[in-house]
Amino acid sequence: MPDLSVRRLLIDLETPFARHWCGGDAFRSALFNALSMSFPIGEQFFIDAVKRGLKVLPPEQQNKYQAEVQGFIGQEATHRRIHSLFNAQLQSQGLVNEWEPRAAARLAQLEGADARHGLGITAANEHFTAILAEWMLGNPELFAGCEPRLRTLWLWHSSEEAEHRSTAFDLYHALGGTHAWRITWFRRVSLIFLGDTLRQTVANLRRDGELWRWRTWTSAAHWLFGKRGLARAALKPWCAYLRQDFHPRQRESGLARRWLEDNAAAYAVVGSG
Ligand SMILES: [Fe+2]
Ligand SMILES: [Fe+2]
Repeated sequence: MPDLSVRRLLIDLETPFARHWCGGDAFRSALFNALSMSFPIGEQFFIDAVKRGLKVLPPEQQNKYQAEVQGFIGQEATHRRIHSLFNAQLQSQGLVNEWEPRAAARLAQLEGADARHGLGITAANEHFTAILAEWMLGNPELFAGCEPRLRTLWLWHSSEEAEHRSTAFDLYHALGGTHAWRITWFRRVSLIFLGDTLRQTVANLRRDGELWRWRTWTSAAHWLFGKRGLARAALKPWCAYLRQDFHPRQRESGLARRWLEDNAAAYAVVGSG
């Protein structure tokens, strides 16, 4: 069982930041902004799914997961809060969150569904966030020249995503979730997540007036398909999820632990005085 601490990030998100806060690069800023726009609604869904999953477990099993679920909820709730502040800054820059209403309409269809569906969807999304997290933690040049407080925000979030990557997955299986449904949701979530990320990134670039600039496309090609690009980094872990014997902890790299140790001054552990 991972021991999940809740950490309050000690950064200022009230002071506005530049539109191209990520190293002056329009593409990277637009991509991260897009991801951030999905977090408040997405992470609320994960919290609800995990909470509900714990509730329908047999009482003797609830004890086993209680502390981990509490840590998971605390971490995701903190992420939501901080990314809402970040997103408010994006809104004042003239960006529009089109992802959230699309996600809300889709999630409304799941109301009343078996708890395992919510957990299967959450586990799939958590695998995606863990892939993104390892990519961010493993490529410091992604945040080169980036506003330091925002680099801290993204790497803190990445570290906690890597930490709690197995919570929804383990609950899903504890409730008897099948491999077939796990894969079905993973395939669906993959299409939806990629589609939404792309649409919102393009929308952000369009509103920013940077969509049709050559430098935007060279940056996109480099960070998506280059040697250290996301597509290359994601391929193997994406395939790994399809295996029958897959478990999220198999993909732990130690990068998250190291970042949290090296950056302890950036946060206060909640409940530790
Ligand atoms: Fe999160
Ligand atoms: Fe998460």
